[in-house]
Amino acid sequence: MRLTLEEIAKIAGVSKATVSRVINDVPSGVGEETRKHVQSVLSELHYSNDSFMHSMRSKSLALILPDITNPFFADIARAVTRKAITENYVVILVETEFSEEKEQEYISKLISKKVDGIILVPSGRACTDAHFLPEKYHVPMVLLDRKLDGAHSYAGIYSDNEYVAFGCCERLIKSGAREIVFISGPLNVSTSTERMDGYKDALIHYEIPFDHRKVRIGNYTVESGYQAILELEKENISYSAVLAANDLMALGALRALKEFSYKIPEEKQIIGFDNIDFSKYCEPSLSTVQQPSIQMGSQAVETLLKLIGGKKVSQTIRLQPKILYRQTTK
Ligand code: RIB
Repeated sequence: MRLTLEEIAKIAGVSKATVSRVINDVPSGVGEETRKHVQSVLSELHYSNDSFMHSMRSKSLALILPDITNPFFADIARAVTRKAITENYVVILVETEFSEEKEQEYISKLISKKVDGIILVPSGRACTDAHFLPEKYHVPMVLLDRKLDGAHSYAGIYSDNEYVAFGCCERLIKSGAREIVFISGPLNVSTSTERMDGYKDALIHYEIPFDHRKVRIGNYTVESGYQAILELEKENISYSAVLAANDLMALGALRALKEFSYKIPEEKQIIGFDNIDFSKYCEPSLSTVQQPSIQMGSQAVETLLKLIGGKKVSQTIRLQPKILYRQTTK
């Protein structure tokens, strides 16, 4: 027997109008807590009504990441899924493996799967036709961590990479280092170039000549950090400190420095970026930058849900990372 609105209202302890608004998924006129309470009463009563069932369906968000083996992105994925599920959204996680082609393919596929929104961590910074499909098909998309050139219509949540890279370099300079190496991530990624800008700004500020031989381009992997040190040593480049654009490269560099029997931090200092778990437990423990990963992921979901609800959002949200000094710096 199907309950009347009046009976449901009595059970839920709300007005008939409120029950009607929830059943018909009317976005206004019902507080979030009341909506969730009435929805759970309707679920317990096994109430079925097309628009209600639509409002209760597990809605889905897509999270597109470049590399799920990188602990930084694992932290981001956890922050996004934890926030999304509190709003009854499930998260479809896809990995592009740094491929811009895969990224474009996934955007198109996810739109055809009718996801309610997309959070994209770009694998590159070039904006292609595929990146405008969400706008064309009215699927809200938010950029996270990395920028897309020319994608002005998408809101983005980022770390203040340039500012904090300047701070890392400044600390090394104030500790007496003047020959500082920068190990960059891929140059087609905005976080790499922003961190390099911070490094260059610090050299200019402290009147240290820029030496291109002290910049090595990695790919945000352990191996590329390790190889960067091998190259510097092979070319007899003089340096007393290393700033790596992420922890994985810093861990690779640290391994190479120890193989050359350098005393750390007395002879060589090193700072990474991301504060992944390994950075705290490696020997010596790595100085690094604590990215606001939880806040970034949570803020990305909040921003996307506002867009899904047709609300206005601020175009760019810039969050402040924090430098953590451990045993690899003086
Ligand atoms: O570790 C991967 C890096 O790329 C992180 O620092 C993150 O900012 C991403 O852009």
